[in-house]
Amino acid sequence: MKNTLIAPSVLAADFANLQRDIEMINASEADWFHIDIMDGVFVPNISFGMPVLDAINKHAKKTIDVHLMIVDPDRYISTFKKLGTDVLTVHYEACTHLHRTLQAIKAEEMKAGVALNPHTNVDLLEDVIQDIDLVCIMSVNPGFGGQSFIENTYAKVEKLKALINKKNASTLIEIDGGVTNKNAKQLADAGADVLVAGSYVFGAQDPIATIADLKKITK
Ligand code: DX5
Ligand code: ZN
Repeated sequence: MKNTLIAPSVLAADFANLQRDIEMINASEADWFHIDIMDGVFVPNISFGMPVLDAINKHAKKTIDVHLMIVDPDRYISTFKKLGTDVLTVHYEACTHLHRTLQAIKAEEMKAGVALNPHTNVDLLEDVIQDIDLVCIMSVNPGFGGQSFIENTYAKVEKLKALINKKNASTLIEIDGGVTNKNAKQLADAGADVLVAGSYVFGAQDPIATIADLKKITK
């Protein structure tokens, strides 16, 4: 049986009741907290920054998975370590010297992730896959929660899984954007290890039951 990790995206939480929503995730079967940092330059939206992550980290009792949608992420690697980050993901499209960036993340003793926009081919990672702990396949264009899932994602997951196996790497595959109970099982079957879910979890009547259902259907 698989253990697909579920990572609720805090972007969809109620920011006026953030502690309540964090405690909800702590009490649920969720595995990770997914934290979306947007700079209004790499993506056409600004989410939240360091003081908010610091506040989240004071209450969160699970792995902190930070998704940086910012230009020039190298400037902030040590800052995110200090804020309690366990997995730090940068965008392929934002890194001129990706290999160097990955080494800098690992030097801070965090897991190193690389996110790919929907148009970015997974083959571009062939020469660095052994240095990557997690690849985040964007299944929407980054910048906003609540968008619809791009169907080509399944083919990308299968292709990436084949690349990881060919290179004998132990890289995890994460899917981010538009994840619901309609696509979760097919994604897990295709090779996804971590599913991010924002609006589907926080918009549900019963988020705890929704998380439990995602865990169950992806086993
Ligand atoms: C999009 C973010 C996602 C987003 C997912 O740019 O990276 O993590 O919060 O939200 P949903 O699950 O609503 O698509
Ligand atoms: Zn994200």
